[in-house]
Amino acid sequence: MSLLSDLTRIVAAGFESAGLDASFGAVQVSDRPDLGQFQCNGALAAARSAARDPRAIAGQVVTQIEGDRRLASASIAGPGFINLTVTGRTLAGYVDAMAEDGRLGVPAVGPSLKVIVDYAGPNVAKAMHVGHLRATIIGDTIKRLFRFAGHEVLGDAHFGDWGLQMGMLIVATRRRHPDLAHFDGTYEGPYEAPLSITLADLQEWYPDMARQVAEDEEVAAEARRATTDLQSGRPGYVALWEHFVRVSRASQEQDFSDLGVEFDLWYGESTVRDLLRPLVDETLARGIAVRSAGAVVIEVSRPDDKAEITPLVLETSHGAFLYGTTDVATIQMRVSELGADLILYVVDSRQSYHLEQVFRAARRAGLSGGAAMEHIGFGTMNGPDGTPFKTREGGVLRLGDLIDMVTNAAAARLEESDLAALYPGAERAVIARQVGIAALKFGDLVNNRTSNYVFDVRRFTALEGKTGPYLQMAAVRMDSILARAARRGLAPGAILAPHHETETRLLLRLLQLPEVIDRAMDLRAPNHLAEFAYEVAADFSRFYEACHILTEPDPGLQSSWLGTVRTSRRVLELLLDLLGIEVPARM
Ligand code: ARG
Repeated sequence: MSLLSDLTRIVAAGFESAGLDASFGAVQVSDRPDLGQFQCNGALAAARSAARDPRAIAGQVVTQIEGDRRLASASIAGPGFINLTVTGRTLAGYVDAMAEDGRLGVPAVGPSLKVIVDYAGPNVAKAMHVGHLRATIIGDTIKRLFRFAGHEVLGDAHFGDWGLQMGMLIVATRRRHPDLAHFDGTYEGPYEAPLSITLADLQEWYPDMARQVAEDEEVAAEARRATTDLQSGRPGYVALWEHFVRVSRASQEQDFSDLGVEFDLWYGESTVRDLLRPLVDETLARGIAVRSAGAVVIEVSRPDDKAEITPLVLETSHGAFLYGTTDVATIQMRVSELGADLILYVVDSRQSYHLEQVFRAARRAGLSGGAAMEHIGFGTMNGPDGTPFKTREGGVLRLGDLIDMVTNAAAARLEESDLAALYPGAERAVIARQVGIAALKFGDLVNNRTSNYVFDVRRFTALEGKTGPYLQMAAVRMDSILARAARRGLAPGAILAPHHETETRLLLRLLQLPEVIDRAMDLRAPNHLAEFAYEVAADFSRFYEACHILTEPDPGLQSSWLGTVRTSRRVLELLLDLLGIEVPARM
């Protein structure tokens, strides 16, 4: 249905009638646009396999396909490359067909899968840092992409709320507030939430406690005991933990909402707490888990491993369940209760070893059923010094502060460029927030996800160049052209064969959409969407500079150009939506 797949079909038929395999006919967008819009390099490979002359093969194919009405030219270059250019009418016809389709010519997948996207992963009482930021931004795009492709998708925050950290927080609280009823073993409840304990307190206590646990075995033992007590349901501790969960979640939900990110499920590690004991007992009974130095572990190494993968610990010798235990039980829950076919973990690449252990353990225990599990890893966001981004004071950066930082930078940019200057203050603030978030998201998503990148607020908020704000400006300009036209009673119409080279280029670009979506899906790579959105916006700007749409005297041409604007806007709308970027009503 796409132009590229139709061209491939035409050329493949050419190869077949030359007695060669159709698979040599793959057509791609040309990397030499001066020679043709599209190219096929199959004659070279065909010549090698058939021991024939590549130019002769290319010549035969070209003779076969030359007559196709869709082609303006088919020619041979170099040792046997086939270059193709389509007619202007062909281009216009394909773009019109795309505009008529609610999915812009992108087919929905079939059959669809039940997909769980595990992303963000905030933790109780810990400020979200840049690792969580990348997981949130990338995960959200992956979720939107899979949903657009036609899968049934649930995004789950997988809240970190059930490990040793909980015991550490309980001990930290007891040190400061020993008189709380929560610590009184004889008290039977009900418990009042200790409202004086805020998230800021917990965030301050936690690193201090973590240090003590690392240095002092007695404190570590105390934290372990508190964890086991909580995990076995001691009411005062459970009530305290509920308070920790509540204050943490409220603040994190605010950050996510500022980012425009919503979760379908806000499950936590604690959601599967009742599965943990049976998981350990049953895997032990089935001989899948074994006892090792007092702990219960699952062996996960394989003979073909290049580096050793150590066993996954399900239960420590102190009787505690770990991060990996809840991860394995969560797989069990996602598969048996949620019916997952595919679970995508959008998690920092530094956790790949952990996730590999977890996936293998779940498979060995037969808990993942037929579901596939996949780690979608990513690199770090670095500061100007090339190490993970920190505050000026050297601390871990809070997500909320980062959001304020990009919003302020965006406001300064708008002011510098005299944009939105005359709008009411409240609207300006909304625009600055939208522009700041777009800068942050696009600045992240445009990178290959596995690479590290440098956070550069000046560069990210620039209104020109490959940035989120540039895309927003392009979208706002398209909207304004269409609105002004509508006010004059002008409507977008059928697209005519292009009159200008910038128009040809834009239409060719729009028609690449289905392949770009495909590639982004296959590689789980949002940067293909981000790059393409930029190319659409840039090609549109060139078209807009060259073709004066609103003053064009020829009504047919004018309505065709408006049609091109509208379709460009729809393509950009889809891409920005997948990237989670909002477009201001005006800028
Ligand atoms: N809470 C974890 C962290 O902060 C991330 C969770 C990732 N997801 C998972 N299923 N392990 O590192």
